[in-house]
Amino acid sequence: MTVNIITIDGPSGSGKGTLAAKLAAHYQFNLLDSGALYRLLGLSLHKRDLLEKLDAELEKCAEIAANLDIKFVTAEAGTKILLDGEDVTQTIRTERVGELASKVAAIPALRAALLERQRAFAQAPGLVADGRDMATAIFPEAQAKIYLTASAESRAARRVNQLQGMGMDAKINDILANIQARDKRDMGRTAAPLKPAADAYIIDSSALGIDEVFNLMTAYIDRKLAN
Ligand code: DC
Repeated sequence: MTVNIITIDGPSGSGKGTLAAKLAAHYQFNLLDSGALYRLLGLSLHKRDLLEKLDAELEKCAEIAANLDIKFVTAEAGTKILLDGEDVTQTIRTERVGELASKVAAIPALRAALLERQRAFAQAPGLVADGRDMATAIFPEAQAKIYLTASAESRAARRVNQLQGMGMDAKINDILANIQARDKRDMGRTAAPLKPAADAYIIDSSALGIDEVFNLMTAYIDRKLAN
């Protein structure tokens, strides 16, 4: 049986996460939030005091990456994420953990250690894979490849809303500076830099609502999956 794969790549705050979850529910496909894996790895290495010693302890860190004890527990209220048995669902969404994730994501050996784990999510009937290099590195065979982007300013405004919705304090200027720094690091790194695949469908969501983006995506995906 063919496993249908839909990849959604793009920068933080473009709406990828929300749309990937909506698409997975719509097509009844599995969902891979690959950013969560990098966040969990960043948190795990930080807790073990290994983040400052990445170069010296690379082998050990890669081994930890390949064997991360993670569970995604689906419940009605949303998916709970456990790291070493501890609920870190909220913790991994903080800006601080985003920074840790961006740091580990720049190391090729750590990206390689997470490769098989990500591919294992490709189970019938299909997968929606959300990340930065889903189409360019992890699932180049995907039937539908989407690159979702938006201006840094509109992404910062959305992120502020999202954080405030979770009861966290957020200042637009700090968030914008973080987003710009992270974009620079994610796009400028040599290991799997953030960029659209040559055959990706590019959507700029700066001036579009979620439903409009969703409709553009499903029209494209339906066409691709019918081929
Ligand atoms: O999508 P996110 O903000 O949760 O991602 C966290 C960090 O992980 C971000 O700096 C980019 C990095 N990342 C990556 O390099 N490759 C992926 N496939 C997903 C995320």
